[in-house]
Amino acid sequence: MPSSTTTPHGGAAALLGEARERTFELVEPLSDEDLHRQLSPIMSPLVWDLAHIAAYEDLWACHRTGGMELLRPDVAATYDAFETPRSERGEIELLREAEAREYMGQVREEALGVLERDGDGFVWGLLLEHEQQHNETMLQALNLAEPGVYAPRRRPLPPPPAEAPSGTVGVAAGPFEMGDAGDRFAYDNERPRHEVDVAAFEIDRGPVTNGDWLAFMEDGGYARRELWNEEGWAWRSGDDVERPLFWRADGTVQEFERVGPPDPASPVIHVSWFEADAYARWRGMRLPTESEWEKAATWDPEAGVKRRYPWGDEEPDPARHANVDQTAFGTAPAGSHPEGASAYGVLGMTGDCWEWTATEFGGYPGFRAFPYREYSEVFFGQGYRVLRGGSWATRPRVARGSFRNWDHPHRRQIFAGLRCARDA
Ligand code: AVJ
Ligand code: FE
Repeated sequence: MPSSTTTPHGGAAALLGEARERTFELVEPLSDEDLHRQLSPIMSPLVWDLAHIAAYEDLWACHRTGGMELLRPDVAATYDAFETPRSERGEIELLREAEAREYMGQVREEALGVLERDGDGFVWGLLLEHEQQHNETMLQALNLAEPGVYAPRRRPLPPPPAEAPSGTVGVAAGPFEMGDAGDRFAYDNERPRHEVDVAAFEIDRGPVTNGDWLAFMEDGGYARRELWNEEGWAWRSGDDVERPLFWRADGTVQEFERVGPPDPASPVIHVSWFEADAYARWRGMRLPTESEWEKAATWDPEAGVKRRYPWGDEEPDPARHANVDQTAFGTAPAGSHPEGASAYGVLGMTGDCWEWTATEFGGYPGFRAFPYREYSEVFFGQGYRVLRGGSWATRPRVARGSFRNWDHPHRRQIFAGLRCARDA
C-alpha cells in the first residue's frame, strides 16, 4: 500500500470504507427476496457474499492479526468458501440481511482498531481486494438473473473512437520482467517476479468485438468441428452452444434489465475459453500465452522498464485509461481509451473485459503460498485457465498488470472475451 504521512497505511481505512459503500450500492436496487435467493446455481445468494465479506475480515483482521476470538464462530463454517461450496449456499440457513449488515458493521469497527495497531500493508490490502473482488462476483450473479430482477443505475458509456483498433502489433523476441515486484500488495500467485524470455509474436491491437464474433457465427464457427479442440467440441455439442451466454436466437443480448442487439464495436464478453480458442483458430491465430499477454501489457521495451498498468504506474483513471469503475454496467467500444495504450500500442488491455489466455493456472518458479493455500495454490494444475486484464466490473486497484484471474474453460459468467496472437 502507498504510505502517507497522515495515516499509517496511506488512507487504507478510507479505501475500505469506499469498498463497503460500493458493496451496499450494488445490492441497493435488489428486492429483499432476490437478495436472499440463489440467482444461479453456480453463484451465491448475494446475502451470502455480504456475510462472507464480514467473516473473512473477522478471520484475517480480528482473529489472525489481532489475536481476538472470532466475533461469530457460530457462522464461520457457513461463510467459509471451502466448507460451504457455492452449490450448497442456496439450500442452507443464512443470516438475514439485517443480521448480515450488523455483522459487517461490528467486524469493521473491531478490524479498523486492530489494523491501525497491528496491521501491515498486506493485511489491509487482503481485506480491501477481497471485498473488491466480491463486488465483481456479485455482479456476475446479478447478471445471471432474469431480466427485470436487477436494473442498475448506469453511467453513460463513452462514444466509439473515430477509428476502431485493427490489425496486430509486433513484439520482438527478448526477456521481460514477469510478475509483481513485491513492494506493495499483490497476491502470492503474482510472485516472485522473474525473467521470462519470450519468442517474437504478434498480438491483436484491440479486443475481439461483438461484430467480429457475429462474423465467426455467420461463417459457421459453432458448427465446424475442425475449429474446436476435442474437449471444447464435446462441451459445445453436449450443451448445444451456438452463441455467447446471454445472446438469444433472435439476435438480441440480455445485459441486466436491457435486451437489444449487441453493439458491434464493443468487446465480446461471456464466451468460454473453448469458444475463445475456437475463434482464434478460425482467425488462423491462437490465444496469447500469459507471458505474451503480460509482456505486451506491461513491458516498456525502449526503457527496459516494467509498468504497473499498460499506460504506466498511475492508477487507472476511468475517464482516461480504462473502463474499470463498475458504474457503466457494460463494455465501452473497443479503442475508447487511447491514453490507456501499452508501450507497444496495444489497446484495452485493462478494463472492459477479462481476456482468456492459453495458459493453465499454476505457480511461478519459486512460488510460496501466502497467507493461505486456498487463495491460489489449491487451484494449480487443475485445468483452470488464466484470465488477464480486468473487466468493467473490476475495481481499478485489482486490475493491475500482474493480476491473475482463473476459471474453468467452460465457464461463461465472467465478463470475459479475448484477443488473438500468433508466432511472428
Ligand atoms: C480470484 C476471482 C477466482 O472469486 O474465487 C474471493 C477471488 N478468493 N474470495 C474467487 C476470491 C476468495 C477468486 N478469484
Ligand atoms: Fe471470498
